[in-house]
Amino acid sequence: MIIAVDGPTASGKGTIAKALAAHFGLPHLDTGLLYRAVGRQVQLLGGNPDDPHDAIAACDFTESLVEDDILRSEDVGGYASRVSVHPAVRHALYERQRAFALQESGAVLDGRDIGTVIAPEARVKLLVTASVAERARRRWAEMTGRGIDVALSTIEYDIAARDARDMNRKDAPLMAAPGALVIDTTHFGRDAAIEAAIEAVEHKL
Ligand code: C5P
Repeated sequence: MIIAVDGPTASGKGTIAKALAAHFGLPHLDTGLLYRAVGRQVQLLGGNPDDPHDAIAACDFTESLVEDDILRSEDVGGYASRVSVHPAVRHALYERQRAFALQESGAVLDGRDIGTVIAPEARVKLLVTASVAERARRRWAEMTGRGIDVALSTIEYDIAARDARDMNRKDAPLMAAPGALVIDTTHFGRDAAIEAAIEAVEHKL
């Protein structure tokens, strides 16, 4: 069984994907980390993420980079969003994601194009979303909690820019896959959102 969980940044898709993996005993891949690793590698090489040559050269990152905590920073997220526009970068990361999806055990993958490109045959496809204001508030609370001093308006601006880039790119834009169930977490608590997702999967078993 393949479960595809797509959605924009700070929508709760990662939390839902992890909870589904634990509940159904499936391996989980956060595909955003792969794009973040490429973004981080461009940064380390001093390259320009908008330049396809620099972005492609960065696809050859070392495995340990994927484990690095710095990948979760806003800064690297911005680089990831910019490198992910290039079709050659998406192509370079395709096989690895596809192989993960096709494991005999089944798998849960979260990202932007799992239900549309990586595993269109997934038995369950979820699109997890929430308003920009609510996602910005969550990200701000999380960063402030970590002692990072940042304005809510800055976060909101960055999230809107990242959404626009992810939804409007030509190759594999973020959108609901045919047959995807939309879970809007704007007014949902964490547990209610997870429960809705588990129910959606059980419905398809
Ligand atoms: O999900 P996360 O915020 O970690 O992803 C970082 C960036 O990587 C996203 O803004 C998006 O541009 C890109 N991405 C993608 N396709 C995926 C996963 C992430 O384009 N499947």
